[in-house]
Amino acid sequence: MSLQTPHPAGAPTSPHDRRLQEWSFDIAEKRIRVLIGENVHDQMAECLSGLGADRFIVVTDDNVADIAAGKLADLLEQTAPTLLLSHPPGEEHKNLTTLTRFVDLSLDFGVTRRSVVVAVGGGIPGNIAGVLAGLIFRGVRLVHVPTTVIAACDSVISAKQAVNTSHAKNMVGLYHTPEMILIDLAVVAMGSPRDLRSGTCETVKNALAIEPAQIPRLRRLLRRDADYSPADLGEIFDLSLAVKSRLLREDPYEKYSGLLLEYGHTIGHALELASAGHGPEEAALKHGEAVALGMVAAADVAHRLGLLDAEAVAVHEEMIGRVGVCRCLTVGIEAETVLHHIAFDNKRGYRRGDDNQVSMVLLDGIGSPLHPDDHYLTPVPYTDVAAAVHELLRLGRQCREGHGTS
Ligand SMILES: NC(=O)c1ccc[n+]([C@@H]2O[C@H](COP(=O)([O-])OP(=O)(O)OC[C@H]3O[C@@H](n4cnc5c(N)ncnc54)[C@H](O)[C@@H]3O)[C@@H](O)[C@H]2O)c1
Ligand SMILES: [Zn+2]
Repeated sequence: MSLQTPHPAGAPTSPHDRRLQEWSFDIAEKRIRVLIGENVHDQMAECLSGLGADRFIVVTDDNVADIAAGKLADLLEQTAPTLLLSHPPGEEHKNLTTLTRFVDLSLDFGVTRRSVVVAVGGGIPGNIAGVLAGLIFRGVRLVHVPTTVIAACDSVISAKQAVNTSHAKNMVGLYHTPEMILIDLAVVAMGSPRDLRSGTCETVKNALAIEPAQIPRLRRLLRRDADYSPADLGEIFDLSLAVKSRLLREDPYEKYSGLLLEYGHTIGHALELASAGHGPEEAALKHGEAVALGMVAAADVAHRLGLLDAEAVAVHEEMIGRVGVCRCLTVGIEAETVLHHIAFDNKRGYRRGDDNQVSMVLLDGIGSPLHPDDHYLTPVPYTDVAAAVHELLRLGRQCREGHGTS
């Protein structure tokens, strides 16, 4: 990452700052500008005007259309004809149907190679816009305006773009890098506490697996209630960008050391899937909550294998507690369903298949991932994974009883 003053590494963005502060980082020799501030929609529109676009295609969801994207589209209209494409919120709309509709509407609107796709929203419209921009004329310019912590700290700092199919998440996609990332921290701070927490869990993951030097700063910053100010979110963004940009420099397509970002995801993703669609909507784990619990389970797996000591396991539990995630969130999730989803984990294919083993990122110390192959994936006996999942769910039930609720 190359930092361009006046936003020094580690400094919080000052509250009510209406200037955009600038950073940059590289993906595969392409420099990506990051402009970040608070209450800066006019300045964002000015930056976008400077791109010389003949048309703007703004991709968003129906919630963010009201919060931010509609206003930005109105401002862009003063520079070039602007089309607002909005889909209902939710993962079930991140699919080829939405994508095809958006391609047709863009072509009807007269999109050309000089046009710019602007993604305004969370990771879902961001991914749809990323694939759209990558496909039209084999690639038109893309600008990300992330409005969730997951999008700002995780999905936009990546060239990976994908949509879901009926088989699984992120099955169809491509690599396409943005020109620019524009972040209004005041808008990001409007997210629900659970969405703010979910994004922050990924930053905790980066610290535990890759950059332990960030842990003291996170201890000061994390809030169980996820009541983060825009300035706090600016700091969380700084921490995430520092880690992700370093990995992307080494591995722009996230196939080797980039897989470290998947720490906690093997069991976490399975927990997320197993919790969805049964019972009330709030019982479904958010992605980051599931990853946090997946890291606790991964630490338990490494401990069972004699790789990770009890002290390091305790650091996992402490950090997960500080971010506000509790094992009792797993109450109601069936172990068999979790294990079924683990069997279909998407990292299968990086290693030769073996039904009795699960490929996982594991640590032998905080910030010390095991490196048995180019992909940082360790083959783990299925029985150890199953034991860790059962233990996680058992402790979740015990914890819920301790809270005195059913
Ligand atoms: N490398 C990658 O491409 C990558 C990395 C991580 C995650 N992802 C993807 O990101 C998606 C999850 O992202 P997400 O959690 O941002 O989902 P999302 O886009 O659905 O946003 C979550 C919810 O927050 C709402 N919202 C957005 N901004 C808001 C704001 N400022 N205030 C209030 N509400 C707001 C949305 O309408 C939505 O209901 C997944 O599909 C995941 O696969 C991709
Ligand atoms: Zn994740």
